[in-house]
Amino acid sequence: MAKLRVAVIGAGGIGGTHLRAYAAWPELCELVGVADIDIEMARAKAAPYAIPAYADVQAMLDACQPDGVSICTPPKLHLPIAVEVARRHIACLCEKPPARTVAETEAIVAAFAEGGAVLQFAFCHRFHEPVRQVQELISAGKLGKIVQIYNRFGFRFDRAATSWFTDGDMAGGGVLIDTLVHSIDIFRVLAGEVTGVNAAISTTLPVAVEDSASIQVVSERSVIGSLNCSWVTPVSEAEIRIWGTEGEAIIDYATTTGARYRLVGDSEWTVSPFDGPDRFVLQAESFLRCVQSGQQPNADGREGIAVMRVIEEAYRSAFHNEK
Ligand SMILES: NC(=O)c1ccc[n+]([C@@H]2O[C@H](COP(=O)([O-])OP(=O)(O)OC[C@H]3O[C@@H](n4cnc5c(N)ncnc54)[C@H](O)[C@@H]3O)[C@@H](O)[C@H]2O)c1
Repeated sequence: MAKLRVAVIGAGGIGGTHLRAYAAWPELCELVGVADIDIEMARAKAAPYAIPAYADVQAMLDACQPDGVSICTPPKLHLPIAVEVARRHIACLCEKPPARTVAETEAIVAAFAEGGAVLQFAFCHRFHEPVRQVQELISAGKLGKIVQIYNRFGFRFDRAATSWFTDGDMAGGGVLIDTLVHSIDIFRVLAGEVTGVNAAISTTLPVAVEDSASIQVVSERSVIGSLNCSWVTPVSEAEIRIWGTEGEAIIDYATTTGARYRLVGDSEWTVSPFDGPDRFVLQAESFLRCVQSGQQPNADGREGIAVMRVIEEAYRSAFHNEK
């Protein structure tokens, strides 16, 4: 089968990660271009791959004729760029959050439904091997009925206050939409659809959006989730804990091992191995294989809309609770 021609739009931090991830699959694709309104950024990211850099997205799409692109720009640009990509029937791996609102996300999904090309939202944690391992433990019934899930993604995000991440118009909000979007996706994957949300947000930095957020959720399977994110706490922490009636499991992103779990009667933790590719490389592979086969991605448009509905509900709850 012919290799897919792939390009990246937005040559910042995650744009570089997408380039690296595609480059890990030379048998499936070839990188053909990078676009960024900051041409120096585009050139810097394109140089290691010896591919052309463009300051204009349309010019790159015209010149490179890619089969697939990654959209790695701030969220405000996801919709206009995605509509242009869909109009050209090009497959798209669009970074999280899908967009700033449910309405924008629905517009992206509608554009791809009309154009017919593959659309995948970049919920990368679905491809994190320890998350998959816990999914398997849950599906096999080893942990019993899942009761509670705790998650925290906390770190000190030094550029938060001085970048688009705290510009509500560009980002659609603060840490809740940016970082807690991952937590919501992971929770839905492990516990089922969210049916109830209660949220609290706070701001410590001199910015107009929240830099810390905690939400309580409940799922259709009666699993309770406590999901927490902060940009202002100094010790980086990225952890998910899952408790069931027959055991518990921990995903600790700081370790190099897979998930560890302990079942009823176990005196020791069982530690799963983890020596495969990282989540970004596996996400790229999944996208490329869907584009080749025409198969619907796991993190498709409906998933993006569902996650954004929870985000909007969480903001409604947080603003209500602030009153
Ligand atoms: N999956 C993850 O773990 C993860 C991690 C970080 C960021 N992200 C997401 O990726 C996206 C980008 O984040 P980032 O950290 O790379 O930001 P960034 O600021 O490092 O890079 C964004 C780039 O987009 C460029 N850009 C802005 N407008 C553009 C336009 N109209 N056309 C082309 N390029 C344009 C900017 O010049 C910049 O170089 C966001 O949606 C963010 O939430 C995801």
